[in-house]
Amino acid sequence: MSLMLNMTGVRKTYATGAVKVEALRGIDLKVNAGDYVSIMGPSGSGKSTLMHIIGCLDVPTAGRYELDGTDVSSMSEKQLAEVRNRKIGFVFQSFNLLASLTALRNVELPLVYAGVSAAERRERALAALAKVGLADRVQHRPGELSGGQQQRVSVARALVTNPALILADEPTGNLDSHSTAEILDLFAELNTAGRTIVMITHEADVASHAKDAVHIYDGLLLEQPVGAGAAK
Ligand SMILES: Nc1ncnc2c1ncn2[C@@H]1O[C@H](COP(=O)(O)OP(=O)(O)OP(=O)(O)O)[C@@H](O)[C@H]1O
Ligand SMILES: [Mg+2]
Repeated sequence: MSLMLNMTGVRKTYATGAVKVEALRGIDLKVNAGDYVSIMGPSGSGKSTLMHIIGCLDVPTAGRYELDGTDVSSMSEKQLAEVRNRKIGFVFQSFNLLASLTALRNVELPLVYAGVSAAERRERALAALAKVGLADRVQHRPGELSGGQQQRVSVARALVTNPALILADEPTGNLDSHSTAEILDLFAELNTAGRTIVMITHEADVASHAKDAVHIYDGLLLEQPVGAGAAK
């Protein structure tokens, strides 16, 4: 089994004026390729900080982080942006779709940044939208879609670059129970098809859909995923 995420001794200290906050105090986290892991923790425990580092939106103050075999712990902004675009599909609580663009255009966007030709972009975006069950909504704008449908568009956008990792931050936080079930079904399906998924949530029933769970308290992890690392 190859490791998708390999974090050792990751620390993040924020210095705001004279106040120092140790948001992460030595995180060791290993996630195998093909795993589906939820990260749970109370408010202020460091979830968003950890998600930013996993997603290469920020770098650790200390420690080492390898994503899909590449050490990303001391990369520049520009290198991190490249890694993000190539390796990670993001799903956010608030969808983050562009309101003026159709579902199709929204899903095509990451491919525009990746320099894919217009014809191939369209083909791949249509396939991704079909995969999330929205083949009949590709010309709709976000405002013409339900919340659950909008989140499915954002899952299609996360998938379209064929990323190594899907990273979801409270993906069901703005959804009703029906749409929540739809998104969780979709994640289960994607994981069965071999995708690695890391999902951050503070809801235990949402977290229980993942194969493994880790808990973060006050900047420290309490458990390793059952199926990860040496356990396999
Ligand atoms: N940019 C920042 N600058 C300074 N301190 C920060 C910054 N971001 C987070 N913190 C501090 O780091 C700690 C962890 O914050 P974080 O946002 O990671 O928590 P969280 O688990 O995501 O909480 P929530 O569930 O409320 O979103 C908190 O004490 C917070 O005040
Ligand atoms: Mg947070």
